[in-house]
Amino acid sequence: MDPKRIEQLHQRHADVAAGGGPERVKKQHERGKLTARERLALLFDEGSFCEIGAFVEHRSVDFGMAGRDIPADAVVTGYGQVNGKLVYAFSQDFTTMGGSLGEMHAQKICRVMDLALQNGAPFVGINDSGGARIQEGVDALNGYGEIFRRNTKASGVIPQISVIAGPCAGGASYSPALTDLVMMVDGGSRMFITGPDVIESVTREKVDAEALGGAQAHARKSGVAHLTYPDEESLFAELRWLLGLLPANNREQPPQVASVDPAQDAATLIDIMPERPNKGYNVEDIIEAIVDAGSFIPIHDQFATNAVVGLARLAGQVVGIVANQPRFLAGCLDIDSSDKIARHVRFCDAFNIPLVTLVDTPGYLPGVGQEHGGIIRHGAKVLYAYSEADVPKVSVVLRKAYGGAYLAMCSRSLGSDLSFAWPTAEIAVMGPEGACNIVFRREIKDAEDPEAMRQEKITEYREKLANPYVAASRGYIDGVIEPAKTRSTLISAFSTLRKKQPDTGIRTSRRHGNIPL
Ligand code: HXC
Repeated sequence: MDPKRIEQLHQRHADVAAGGGPERVKKQHERGKLTARERLALLFDEGSFCEIGAFVEHRSVDFGMAGRDIPADAVVTGYGQVNGKLVYAFSQDFTTMGGSLGEMHAQKICRVMDLALQNGAPFVGINDSGGARIQEGVDALNGYGEIFRRNTKASGVIPQISVIAGPCAGGASYSPALTDLVMMVDGGSRMFITGPDVIESVTREKVDAEALGGAQAHARKSGVAHLTYPDEESLFAELRWLLGLLPANNREQPPQVASVDPAQDAATLIDIMPERPNKGYNVEDIIEAIVDAGSFIPIHDQFATNAVVGLARLAGQVVGIVANQPRFLAGCLDIDSSDKIARHVRFCDAFNIPLVTLVDTPGYLPGVGQEHGGIIRHGAKVLYAYSEADVPKVSVVLRKAYGGAYLAMCSRSLGSDLSFAWPTAEIAVMGPEGACNIVFRREIKDAEDPEAMRQEKITEYREKLANPYVAASRGYIDGVIEPAKTRSTLISAFSTLRKKQPDTGIRTSRRHGNIPL
């Protein structure tokens, strides 16, 4: 073979790899952003990334596009190994035409999505783009539609993770929204449907891009971002670790590793739970004393902070964690925490991740805003998600489990496989104060000392009804356990559930359920 052909090949590769050229790469770095290829190098095991479609070119001719060179059509696509396992990815190149998405750019993304789905491997999208390539008009829009449809078809089959590493605006933000996890970088990433200028012209609201669609806005307020990071390096390090927790697809089990003792001594659990039943505490301290040290990764941790969800390992086995957080809103379930919990339960169920539910909630949050905002509709998502999930589900009632929230938080009635309670558990229709005000209203009113009578009735109610033993006597609780035995009880419970068979009857006999959205 003429050696020139090899030289030419190398030269072509070098041209494509240069992206938008040194000036634009410099500008990207000055903004604290990495290039598309640097990001892929952080994601994949060293030297394992294999690019496909490097020489794909756009076919657009209008608006000065004829003959315009756009290396890799502004997106690097391919596959490689993460911790030795196959993963497909795209990484948009902002240095070439702002990473804008045209017909061929979209086709490249669709190609790796198809390969990921066909081969049952996780898919990572790294977004850094000015959105639909304006010059390509409806072809660009069609490209997004093709991606959205593939995101939806792949949902629940392969893990799909979106990294937002720059702008991701307009309809472009709907592809990440259709994936399982959205990871954002502080200061560098922006997501919005309409930007600050359009908003100001329509509603006269003044807001800057960071406050509108930056990582913190989506982590705290909208809930669009599941995870945020101070820089791209820490994001990709955690993404690699996260991929190590997930199975490659819905037919595989999550990878198991050796057991590690918890960071906190189990004996401390009894001290974390306050003596006063209305005092708050940090349920994450309880989680840390139960799961393998260093394994707990909270998801959505700044959104709806009255609930905690995340992934962890228990004796080396990956589990999904759902817990009420009594530090905030006393651990009540509200609209946002219902969405957060329901989504996490469905994510875990889709990918064969058993669920641990730690319950301490006085109920659904009262309020006109909650009612009119649709707490009935949103709260129902939690009931639906737990009832539908057929991964192994084990719950532990730590303290309060009242009313509808008791049912919602993975009760036996909704299909928990095994339910346990601490001796501090109070399982009842409602809390002692509220219950006594209704049931003993007349006695309290007619008493010589109404306050003393109220306290007497509250104590009586707590002893009679607000404890774990009534529920245990009916079999709704399988065992009342010492806090220090929580980890060993969970490990033993899950070991019995390894071969649990899903209820395939329901799944195959209907097209799909109708979760209250
Ligand atoms: C074509 C684009 C582009 C786009 C950026 N560029 N966005 N080219 N189509 N959508 C080009 C710029 O012309 C410029 O090219 C280069 O990329 C870098 O852009 P700058 O503006 O210089 O960068 P910066 O100042 O950092 O601003 C980034 C930006 C801005 C905020 C993203 O470019 C911007 O507002 N772009 C338009 C965003 C937008 O409205 N997109 C359409 C959204 S609607 P040169 O050659 O000058 O360097 C949408 C619909 C999808 O996406 C619907 C799906 C259902």
